[in-house]
Amino acid sequence: MLRGSVLALLLLSAIANGQSVVQDHQDGNQPSDDCPNKDLIKPCSCSEELGKKHLKCSSIGSPLELRKVLNNLKTKQNTVAVMELSNTNFFSFPENALFQTQFNEMIFNNVTIVKAHFKDGKNIFMGLEHTLKIVNIFNSNISSGILWNALEPLEELIVLEISNAELNPLPALSEWLTTYQLGKLFLTSNSISEVDENAFSKFDKLSRLSLKDNNIKEIKASMFPTSLTFIDLSGNLLTTLPPDVFSGMQNLQEVKLVENNIQIIPYDVFTDYPKSLKTFDLSKNKLQCCAKWKWIMQMKDKMLGRCDTPSNLKNKNLKDVNEETLLAIECTKID
Ligand SMILES: *[C@@H]1O[C@H](CO)[C@@H](O)[C@H](O)[C@H]1NC(C)=O
Ligand SMILES: *[C@@H]1O[C@H](CO)[C@@H](O)[C@H](O)[C@H]1NC(C)=O
Repeated sequence: MLRGSVLALLLLSAIANGQSVVQDHQDGNQPSDDCPNKDLIKPCSCSEELGKKHLKCSSIGSPLELRKVLNNLKTKQNTVAVMELSNTNFFSFPENALFQTQFNEMIFNNVTIVKAHFKDGKNIFMGLEHTLKIVNIFNSNISSGILWNALEPLEELIVLEISNAELNPLPALSEWLTTYQLGKLFLTSNSISEVDENAFSKFDKLSRLSLKDNNIKEIKASMFPTSLTFIDLSGNLLTTLPPDVFSGMQNLQEVKLVENNIQIIPYDVFTDYPKSLKTFDLSKNKLQCCAKWKWIMQMKDKMLGRCDTPSNLKNKNLKDVNEETLLAIECTKID
């Protein structure tokens, strides 16, 4: 008897669930084909890009104005996925304004809000803890490491890009973003000169990391997780790499070290170099082609980069230098 009623209950709730799913689908489907009505989101606009509805708000006058727009998106039918706020210089983000919106991507371009809120440790993303997957911050002077508080609750964050935002120094990010879901991290053009020695180490799902165009002089093996497939350190001030820095990265495909101050990397940077490796790019450095490059012989076909010295090899591709010739050239000391 008991079993029978439990079964009936289950059946009933299954039907109810089934109906509500269909209902939601019908509710949500019709309006979601279009962006919200223009008047509801003025002065913002909405367009469809790459199959996602994209709300663009530029030069917004006040937090109140922004709140009005966001309130109008708090409906079941709303399926706007991306919110972009640009050229806006008020200092406070309307409190709780993001609750019940469904953004999975937010873009901030030339806004001051980010700085002010992150500095207070306020959580600007409240309400999007389980929704927001991608955060992009461009051209917004943050100039302190404190913003990480605000990102901490974002359990689903998989892509983080902060570019041209004066982000220096770089702390141990994996102490802040503790859900470790992050797959892509791009921190380009930020004048970063100091990187914590465990900066990225705990992100064991991180596959793409770019620190392009910063002022990094030195990296350490302890900074990086072994999950990386792509690492870009181009446009920095590196003079060499430590031994074994990429060791254990069994899925590594591409290493970019274009435009640094590298002359010689005297150590094998792979204990055991991954079969997956496709490119090791040292273009636009001043490579001193000499015997200490012996370690690249095993992966010559992946190497890009030209000799600067000795003069008889100038502009020759390092990988095309005959092994015997290379080994016969003594490296001159660099300071
Ligand atoms: C950045 O936004 C401000 C308004 O807050 C605007 O005056 C300025 O022109 C914007 N800068 C750029 C490069 O668009
Ligand atoms: C960024 O902000 C800091 C402090 O507010 C300031 O010292 C610095 O000059 C700013 N950087 C740029 C490029 O505007």
